[in-house]
Amino acid sequence: MYRTHNNGELRLKDVNEEVTLSGWVQKIRDKGFMVWVDLRDRYGITQLIFDEERTDKKTLELAKTLGREFVIQVTGKVIERQSKNTAIPTGEIEILVDKLTVLNESQTPPFTIEDNTDGGEDIRMKYRYLDIRRNPVRENLIFRHKVSMEVRNYLSKEGFIDVETPYLIKSTPEGARDFVVPSRMNQGQFYALPQSPQTFKQLLMVGGMDKYFQIVKCFRDEDLRADRQPEFTQIDCEMAFVEQEDILNTFEGLTRHLLKEINGVEVAKFPRMTYDYAMKTYGNDKPDIRFDMKFGELNDVAKHKDFKVFNEAELVVGIAVPQGNKFSRKEIDKLIKWMQRPQIGAKGMVYVRVNEDGTYKSSVDKFYDQEDLAKWAEKTNAKPGDLICVLSGNANETRTQLSALRMELAERLGLRNPKEFAPLWVVDFPLLEWDEETKRYHAMHHPFTSPKPEDMNLLQSNPGKVRANAYDMVLNGNEIGGGSIRIHDRKTQEMMFDLLGFTKEEAEAQFGFLMNAFQYGAPPHGGLAFGLDRLVSILGGQETIRDFIAFPKNNSGRDVMIDAPAPIDEEQLKELCLKTDC
Ligand code: AMO
Repeated sequence: MYRTHNNGELRLKDVNEEVTLSGWVQKIRDKGFMVWVDLRDRYGITQLIFDEERTDKKTLELAKTLGREFVIQVTGKVIERQSKNTAIPTGEIEILVDKLTVLNESQTPPFTIEDNTDGGEDIRMKYRYLDIRRNPVRENLIFRHKVSMEVRNYLSKEGFIDVETPYLIKSTPEGARDFVVPSRMNQGQFYALPQSPQTFKQLLMVGGMDKYFQIVKCFRDEDLRADRQPEFTQIDCEMAFVEQEDILNTFEGLTRHLLKEINGVEVAKFPRMTYDYAMKTYGNDKPDIRFDMKFGELNDVAKHKDFKVFNEAELVVGIAVPQGNKFSRKEIDKLIKWMQRPQIGAKGMVYVRVNEDGTYKSSVDKFYDQEDLAKWAEKTNAKPGDLICVLSGNANETRTQLSALRMELAERLGLRNPKEFAPLWVVDFPLLEWDEETKRYHAMHHPFTSPKPEDMNLLQSNPGKVRANAYDMVLNGNEIGGGSIRIHDRKTQEMMFDLLGFTKEEAEAQFGFLMNAFQYGAPPHGGLAFGLDRLVSILGGQETIRDFIAFPKNNSGRDVMIDAPAPIDEEQLKELCLKTDC
């Protein structure tokens, strides 16, 4: 038997007990006549003691040869510690060792296996198995397990059935590029890895499964960011005979349950916001509503003077930064420079200081008097002590820029408290978005999303105005889930593909299987998918999903530990018919 207890288990009540423990050597202190070893495993750390008087000489000598991360087994007696360590649960006891076995030696690890390690990101990724021994990484993985178990239990209790769908499929358009897999048996042909199980879960509804879920890997070849990985996990769900309201209630229930069970936070009914409102008020379809700084549109009160910049702009819009008047001129200039970086692209920024006495001092005093500025303050809901920041230009671009400023200032002012949770639904997304590059409409969600029945008449005449039965769940400024009510009849689906620029033949070749299924009694249905990685990291108070994935890819999509992707050998290329001369 390797162990009678784990390393987080023993307490004062166990004193005098004979125990066997196994684990990794975290730390050794060698005083010559006495050696202490911190023994670590997933459950904690237990202190071992070897000494001249009570340990036999050979064992003491062996203890002195131990190195960091050696795997050892010890047998000994639990004794009360002389100097107790209140920082760890086992800190009142130690093990007086009488038998020590080295189960495996270790080279000196390339970084310290401690909470605050000296290892940089790259080296920790290369030796991820060592990184996983560190508390913060291990705890994140255990946290993820807890969330996914809660999800499974909750959905199973609600009648959802976990069904696996295939990974070797045909393209499912979710707006990214596909990862493809060549088929040896069908030379020159390729599978695509699913960007999501979208079409399969719809077919499960046609198949009468009624309520489906799956915690499932999805693959998207897209540019990576802190909240994006090329392979990530969805909590994918679908329900038959439902309207949007049923879905919102079901998954709001799940999220509320998670916040309560995982974070101990009770949240009232989630606010709902239309896409249009979110864009106008926050410049963003995933607003962080933990703080205010709502946009105030100033066209009516800023275009009546001789200030050309505003007069020529499509939109003049501002936010009131709470207590922003304390920013020095230098700080504001720096902020303007930050806004002018190519990543944001603002041309400039007008600002108004709202003084404690209710007067205003602006960067455009030449053009606007106190009465004008008072109107700006009213529109942006500015209070004495605030700073009003105003941008202008093309409406969409200006909103995006002001949204970036809003988020940055909230971060700097400490308004993005990771322990506070502000979920909401964003609803009524446009069905289509115009892509200037391809001069075509694209499905904003995906092509299976149903238009709102009341907007159906606009489909031909003004497709850009049609709203979809689509919704996103947003948590602390992150899109954690999205879904829609689906089209479930062939005619509408054909019309949709037509709008998206597919020829009849292309639509048939790619999605004939789904449209055929719609001819065999497809029930009305809809669903949603959460991004599990994102959900877990936000519940865990962070925004980098990599920290909650056991073996993530780096920013160039590489797994530096196994060194993938990698070339394959000539033979394999030939076999797969991937060589031009095959
Ligand atoms: P969508 O594309 O919105 O919808 O994806 C659902 C959720 O998955 C997460 N997500 C990601 N997480 C990490 N890395 C990525 N690269 C990544 N891409 C997406 C997001 C997102 O909200 N089939 C539809 C769902 C449906 O209609 O039911 C779909 O995949 O949190």
